[in-house]
Amino acid sequence: MNIDWDSKAYGEKCAFVGEYGKGVVDLLSVPPGARVLDLGCGRGELTAYLAQRGWDAEGMDASKAQLADAKRRFPEIVFFEGDITSFEVEKRYDAVFSNAVLHWIDKDRQPSALAHVRAALKTGGEFVFEMGGKGNAAAIHAALKEEILARGGTYRHDFFFPDEAEYSALLEAAGFEVRYASLFERPTPLKGEDGVADWIGVFAKNELSGLPEGQRRAAALAAQERLRGALFADGIWTADYVRLRMKAVAV
Ligand code: BEZ
Repeated sequence: MNIDWDSKAYGEKCAFVGEYGKGVVDLLSVPPGARVLDLGCGRGELTAYLAQRGWDAEGMDASKAQLADAKRRFPEIVFFEGDITSFEVEKRYDAVFSNAVLHWIDKDRQPSALAHVRAALKTGGEFVFEMGGKGNAAAIHAALKEEILARGGTYRHDFFFPDEAEYSALLEAAGFEVRYASLFERPTPLKGEDGVADWIGVFAKNELSGLPEGQRRAAALAAQERLRGALFADGIWTADYVRLRMKAVAV
């Protein structure tokens, strides 16, 4: 799935993505100085964090807007453009890291993505990642679907939110051995009084495209209202995130 990222809105509303990603970094066990690729690096926060932790980190992303931001913010780090389902590298990495990216790739393109990750790694190299897991943001997407259909729009949902067993099978088929897998709920507080509607505006652009431009914000706000009882408490909106965190070794 391709998305036209609004890098400014992403930076303002979605800083939590990078913050949570720091916990995923702890799964890496390659030594200091090892070459680590941050796959889908976005604005580069976690690439910089990997470098700060002592690894020789580089970042790759498909979004020109996000990459331009990353290069401006962290000029000492190498960032390059690449699509996860087709990228190639000249020199293999000791580890590939990825946070909140793999669920953007359609299920039928996952084998190709994983084949390219495997090819980018040395044998014995580590692939450590977190992605949306089975049931991720299900309440938000269900409410949005209702509102889009109620306005006569078309609803499509292309995200891939697998569980441990489904993703382990894909990893093994691509030449990995799974060393760690955990599927867990992680309720995620959102910023602002319209936290869910703003989240929809950034993360559900493709779903919203099933409506004319002039109706999109109203649909997002109406979806948010549907969720007030379930996802709003003490003045804070919370997204119903479920994460899949895994570590696999290239064999
Ligand atoms: C996520 O990061 O969990 C996510 C991103 C887009 C849509 C749904 C969930």
